[in-house]
Amino acid sequence: MLFDTKPKTRRADLFDFEEEFSRLSRLINDSLTRLIVVRGLRRTGKTSLVLTTLNELGVPYVFIDVREVVRSRRGLYEVLSRALSDFLRRYSLRKALLNSIIKALSGVRGVRVHGVEVSLNWGRDRPLLTELFREFDGVSSSVGVGFVIVIDEAQRLGGSLGIEVWSAVAHAYDFLGNIKFIISGSEMGVLNSILNNPESPLFGRAYAEVITERLSREKSLEFLQRGFSEVGVEVDEGELNEVVDRLDGVIGWLTYYGYSRSVGGRDLTSIFNDAINLAREELENFLKLRVSRRYRVVLKLLASGVREWGLLKRRLEDYEGSPISDRVLHDILTALKMHSIINEELEFTDPIVKEAAREL
Ligand SMILES: Nc1ncnc2c1ncn2[C@@H]1O[C@H](COP(=O)(O)OP(=O)(O)O)[C@@H](O)[C@H]1O
Ligand SMILES: [Mg+2]
Repeated sequence: MLFDTKPKTRRADLFDFEEEFSRLSRLINDSLTRLIVVRGLRRTGKTSLVLTTLNELGVPYVFIDVREVVRSRRGLYEVLSRALSDFLRRYSLRKALLNSIIKALSGVRGVRVHGVEVSLNWGRDRPLLTELFREFDGVSSSVGVGFVIVIDEAQRLGGSLGIEVWSAVAHAYDFLGNIKFIISGSEMGVLNSILNNPESPLFGRAYAEVITERLSREKSLEFLQRGFSEVGVEVDEGELNEVVDRLDGVIGWLTYYGYSRSVGGRDLTSIFNDAINLAREELENFLKLRVSRRYRVVLKLLASGVREWGLLKRRLEDYEGSPISDRVLHDILTALKMHSIINEELEFTDPIVKEAAREL
């Protein structure tokens, strides 16, 4: 179903994306490609593309789902435990594969396996990521199938934990020949700093990219029309046009609207309000980690259409009641760009986020 709001996992539910699908398939099958980056704004279909492609190819994969910013080692190891348990559950019918992995994992210090539940210690006797990768590489080689390790929303692994993870990935890239990595991210600047920053452990490794783009206006309409016809709901063309205009080709928002409107039976206004609330929560999460007062003011100004440097600075000074240095504004705008909230032209990358910023 096109309007299913979970990430898609089957080709039949994946709208369009022919090119992206075949490019990613090719890269996964290509033995020379070791590192693949899937990048695109939030809700443009990265997770759906990755999961669908891996499932359709039947390639065994570990999916490390970094749902929130990971701040502690315990948090990181919980994410890894979940990824490994999901892996065992997913391949519980492929007995040979399952048994080899269970055997390999059970031999690693700090790893416990009960049925298909894996739990990792995070203290001093924790398994190193490098050891886990080595076990996967070993099994991959013995069963003769290349494994893929996916790190989804990679930008949420930062700081010293990020360095720990990226060093392990770099080590695997350099020394383990049977596994490959897919790194996905929605915050372009941050992703770029993981890959192309001389201080990053991954710096210098070759990678191939797949980019998820927004849908064109025509494709957006087609997506909605097909989705509604699948569920047998009629929506008039005026409304569809309005929705397409407001959502600017972000397939995740189109899906959210389609689902809420048909299965949820809700009206347009309440759907938009909820979407904006969701986006506002995400902005609040971003603000929590920063001197949020100034960011709030700048976001609101940008959302009201102020994009001229001098004017932004003056308004921010008015708000503070004191002069600020250029540096302050520069740093705020840079952070907003790094996180893909705005682009180089200081425009919001997502229309719903823009509306949410107005209400901050
Ligand atoms: N090609 C597609 N066809 C149908 N639905 C899609 C497609 N891509 C994404 N979606 C839907 O859009 C939403 C966001 O997709 P997701 O894959 O989670 O995006 P991302 O990982 O880029 O944030 C989900 O509800 C998903 O089901
Ligand atoms: Mg995703």
